[in-house]
Amino acid sequence: MKNAIETINLTKIYNNNFKAVNSLNLEIPNKTIFGMLGPNGAGKTTTIKMLTCLIQPTSGQAIVGGYDVQKNPNEVRNLLGMVPQQVSLYKDLTVMENSQMCADYYGVPPDERDSRIEDLMELVDIKYARDKRVGQLSGGQKQKASLVASLVHRPDILFLDEPTIGLDPVTKRTLWDLIRDLNDEGHTIILCSHDMHEVDMLCDNVGIINTGNLVAYDTPQGLKDSLLENNKHEITKTLSQISDESEVSTSTKEYLDNISLKKMSILLKNQNDEIIEAIKKSSNVKSIELLRNGRVNLRIDSLDDMAVQNVLNDIISSGGIIKSIYTEEPSLEDVFIKSTSEVNENDRA
Ligand SMILES: Nc1ncnc2c1ncn2[C@@H]1O[C@H](COP(=O)(O)OP(=O)(O)OP(=O)(O)O)[C@@H](O)[C@H]1O
Ligand SMILES: [Mg+2]
Repeated sequence: MKNAIETINLTKIYNNNFKAVNSLNLEIPNKTIFGMLGPNGAGKTTTIKMLTCLIQPTSGQAIVGGYDVQKNPNEVRNLLGMVPQQVSLYKDLTVMENSQMCADYYGVPPDERDSRIEDLMELVDIKYARDKRVGQLSGGQKQKASLVASLVHRPDILFLDEPTIGLDPVTKRTLWDLIRDLNDEGHTIILCSHDMHEVDMLCDNVGIINTGNLVAYDTPQGLKDSLLENNKHEITKTLSQISDESEVSTSTKEYLDNISLKKMSILLKNQNDEIIEAIKKSSNVKSIELLRNGRVNLRIDSLDDMAVQNVLNDIISSGGIIKSIYTEEPSLEDVFIKSTSEVNENDRA
């Protein structure tokens, strides 16, 4: 089996006639970590709910672990684990009891059950609260309890819907390590997140969903590289299209305008008018911001391979002394904002 998940024109229209997922075609290769990104209300949770048999698709097909979610929901349920966006454990039961219930439901061998649970509790550091009722736990503790319950039957495919929201930085790292370990053991992971760093760092592939459509799909690096290769005219076109739309804020427009430009930050030992003029005139410089401490932040043409060199030459030949310099490639956040704003536009048209 090549793909852990395949969807064919998967669509969900809620009872109020709202189309939350629109003909989604998605392939998630087996044993990979897949990151699902998208703005609030994009249809991520709805997609996950269909893939985990919590709600029925309106049309289209979803194959999970080789089984059709509509024809073989029990088989699908048996091979997946789910950490939902809203923790769905029983509040009046303890952490231990919740996990035991899950284990029993999935037919975990009774002689292995409690030791598996204890091991997982240790792994995510929640053992100290094993006999506390879930209703009395903090937000992060609930997340951990939910994780233990969802992993106890060792699912092939694990869905995590914003699992690190509200976790402290140390616990977050523990969970990232755990996700990597599970993947190394051969589990496929589907991760919904608004944390770009998390997705960039963990995922083999990333899909960006907007208004129920898949608008981008690639490796994190592939997505970022595509911004640099993208023709600037395309972005300018998008900008002029959205210029009439009052709901697109000025700051978003400016952001989009600069998105395909490389960021460069230079710390000068001697900032004076002559040097600044030389930088402003430099043909590859598209915008300039002067900071009080002598730092100059620039946006330069990313399509010209000589841009960095040219800017530095212009500074040096006007007498500038450079103390430090760094350049920044586009981030996943840049890709996210660009691809989701463009499709909003097409949808409105
Ligand atoms: N039960 C429901 N009935 C009607 N509409 C719904 C229902 N559940 C979700 N929706 C709508 O479907 C759209 C997609 O919701 P969904 O929860 O899938 O978004 P999401 O991508 O997970 O967003 P977030 O990042 O905020 O979690 C939203 O516009 C939402 O209002
Ligand atoms: Mg959601």
